[in-house]
Amino acid sequence: MINNYDTQIKVSLEKFEKLLRGQLERVEKINSAGEAVDFKNLDNIVIGTCGGDGIGPIITEAAENVLKYLLAGDKKITFKTIEGLTIENRAAQNKAIPDDVMDELRKCNVILKGPTTTPRAGDPWPNIESANVAMRKNLDLFANVRPVKVPEKNIDWTFFRENTEGSYAVGSQGMHVTDDLAMDFCVTTTEGTNRIARLAFEYAKNNNKDRVTVVTKANVVKTTDGKFLSICEEMAKEYPDIKTDEWFIDIMTAKLIDEKRRTDFKVFILPNLYGDILTDEAAEFQGGVGTAGAANIGKKYAMFEAIHGSAPRMIETGRGKYADPCSMFRSAVLLLSHIGYQTEADKLEKALDICTITEKKYVITGRDTGATCEQFAEYVMETIRNIL
Ligand code: IPM
Ligand code: MG
Repeated sequence: MINNYDTQIKVSLEKFEKLLRGQLERVEKINSAGEAVDFKNLDNIVIGTCGGDGIGPIITEAAENVLKYLLAGDKKITFKTIEGLTIENRAAQNKAIPDDVMDELRKCNVILKGPTTTPRAGDPWPNIESANVAMRKNLDLFANVRPVKVPEKNIDWTFFRENTEGSYAVGSQGMHVTDDLAMDFCVTTTEGTNRIARLAFEYAKNNNKDRVTVVTKANVVKTTDGKFLSICEEMAKEYPDIKTDEWFIDIMTAKLIDEKRRTDFKVFILPNLYGDILTDEAAEFQGGVGTAGAANIGKKYAMFEAIHGSAPRMIETGRGKYADPCSMFRSAVLLLSHIGYQTEADKLEKALDICTITEKKYVITGRDTGATCEQFAEYVMETIRNIL
């Protein structure tokens, strides 16, 4: 007997309708979101810290200590420790972010977050959604800004990765239509693309970057990537002094290792998944994902995090104390700058460049052949003192 799949199609259509309604609701929310918070006008700024899993608590504590050192005595700043964003608690509650943790996060203005373990099928954990992805969506942190700099190679890139849409929007809600057919979905919205493109072009304009590169696969993924690209192209017309070019993700990935061409690129705008992939590649030129920080920016909240995972193997093999905190330190630079503490941000960035590029009195190797996370944090603070 030939199966006409009526039942499976009906079940899938019902699920699909739910997805559509959820996304349309989201569109309405982003369309009616007000102006972005201006931190310079706030009397109090609450910085929430959550350590996460694996090496997360170790490197987050180091970054928190450096932030506290730089902001010591500042009456405007309050630090708030947020517990419960561990894989054990998330698994026990079967939630990407437990409700009480989410409530605490919403009481902060900005968040410094350590890496969290993302379960996948076959892990001992339930296959819940990634805490990073859930936090980005729940707090509507639409821009993932990831700078990568290698001064000696003339590399100075800033990636503007769209953070709430693309393949991630309903990434944990795809469907197995039958045992033989699985489908995921990709989402692009007008305002979702406008807001990331606007942030990137404004950044380019305000920082004298005369080139913006839009990366998609619009020749194949014609509808969602096509829409993303055409919105960016339209916006480019408002910035005639900036040269805007467009690349497909495959050749862009290749061009980043082309030493003659890669230094021409400055600011990138990318849909979520391509941004995820390309920023790992880019960070590798800087010394690896352990050296790169990221800002997740929304209109009301912002979250700053390492771009790498929780490195459970380092903990299992007793090497946790040798974890490299640089990704969290670089994220702290972005946090300080975002809340209007540019002098402190510049100081920390300068100290990090001294500690990791020019002086290197202590070097982190990830094992007992190098410095511990704590020693390195002390070294950074001592360097800050010396450049006062
Ligand atoms: C990142 C990470 C996350 C992502 C994972 C941990 C879900 O790779 O921040 O780049 O895919 O966005
Ligand atoms: Mg990634």
